[in-house]
Amino acid sequence: MNIVIAGAGYVGLSLAILLSSSNSVSVLDVDMDKVDLINMGVSPILDEEFASYFASNRVGFKATMDKAVYKDADLVIVATPTNFDASKNKFDTSSVTSVLEDVKEMNPKAWVLIKSTVGVGFTLEASRRFRNVLFSPEFLREGKALEDNRNPSRIIVGVPYKKEPYLTKAKEIIDLFSRFASNAPKTFIMGSTEAESVKLFSNAYLAMRVAYFNELDTFALSKGLDSLDIIKGVSADPRIGDFYNNPSFGYGGYCLPKDAAELAADFLGIPEELISATLSSNLTRKRFIVREILKKAHGGLIGIYRLSMKRGSSDLRQSSVVDVVALLKEEKANLIIYEPSLKEDTYMGYEVITSLKEFASKADVILANRVGEELSPYKDKVYTRDLLKGD
Ligand SMILES: NC(=O)c1ccc[n+]([C@@H]2O[C@H](COP(=O)([O-])OP(=O)(O)OC[C@H]3O[C@@H](n4cnc5c(N)ncnc54)[C@H](O)[C@@H]3O)[C@@H](O)[C@H]2O)c1
Repeated sequence: MNIVIAGAGYVGLSLAILLSSSNSVSVLDVDMDKVDLINMGVSPILDEEFASYFASNRVGFKATMDKAVYKDADLVIVATPTNFDASKNKFDTSSVTSVLEDVKEMNPKAWVLIKSTVGVGFTLEASRRFRNVLFSPEFLREGKALEDNRNPSRIIVGVPYKKEPYLTKAKEIIDLFSRFASNAPKTFIMGSTEAESVKLFSNAYLAMRVAYFNELDTFALSKGLDSLDIIKGVSADPRIGDFYNNPSFGYGGYCLPKDAAELAADFLGIPEELISATLSSNLTRKRFIVREILKKAHGGLIGIYRLSMKRGSSDLRQSSVVDVVALLKEEKANLIIYEPSLKEDTYMGYEVITSLKEFASKADVILANRVGEELSPYKDKVYTRDLLKGD
């Protein structure tokens, strides 16, 4: 199959890598630097999995900025950004719409599969204007994009209408993605509006779960209790489960905050409490962490160890650590930052130090959302809630 993937980000690149082993794949991006890097055989994203794929010299696809590439496509996969636009209280889906418009102009017979996360009802609406449109929610985690797409928890394809030719196309797409899955995942064909809901409710649940264990941790810290003991005891109930229960400075990353915010907005006129409470709980947690760290620092120099919040990722988008830095700045705290992925010398007006040794010797307290092995020599200075050393 001739496949064009629009958007060379975490989602688009991982699909390009996996699909190009048995299909002809091209990647289209509007960012010239990314296109050039891919064509030079260099990962355009700071990510260990992608870096080792590109280092292997087996890159099976080319990148382009030329929309003429759509002309020969059987399938166009859209993996462009859908940031949350707070002023409009909904996703900015303009990049997805612009791909749909380009494909309609260049190759109206091509099928389009939206992998970008969109609001509830977007695909049905789009199918009225652009016809051959399907939606498949993407569940990968940054830093584990290839691993997750090789072992997907499920493959879901949403059709705007439960009739032909949509159903046959949906089955073809499930076959396409199943080919590189090594774990026989459950597969579902459902309405596109239901599939969009699956994506948003999944991420809102994950956000709520993180917020829940963070509130447990806030409670334990405030009462002088052993948080880890409580978490272990609670998580031993198989209905709750001993996973995804590691306290942090707040949920964040590119997807959880924006998807939970979009779902809250999609609830307009429908009674709800949990989704909104999840959003406000996250801010409450960050404010609590800031109070705790200020107490511990006693006016000394606070070292921020990594602005990225997840192990193995250098993505700063919606990082809870960045929000904590902003709140500390409001409190006029003294900060220095260690973030090796930053090229700038300063961030938010604070000095960025590239040597961990220098950073650690200067800081009175080191704030680490996730603790790396490299912090072991300085463990007495570290403030973290990374109790389980997990996600
Ligand atoms: N990152 C994740 O963990 C993840 C997981 C599941 C779903 N998603 C969803 O997938 C989508 C993409 O996320 P991502 O993290 O891969 O994004 P990203 O920001 O890493 O990459 C998106 C790419 O699209 C390019 N782009 C922007 N407009 C374009 C256009 N009109 N045509 C072609 N390319 C264009 C950008 O230059 C960028 O390289 C989003 O909707 C996101 O919510 C992301």
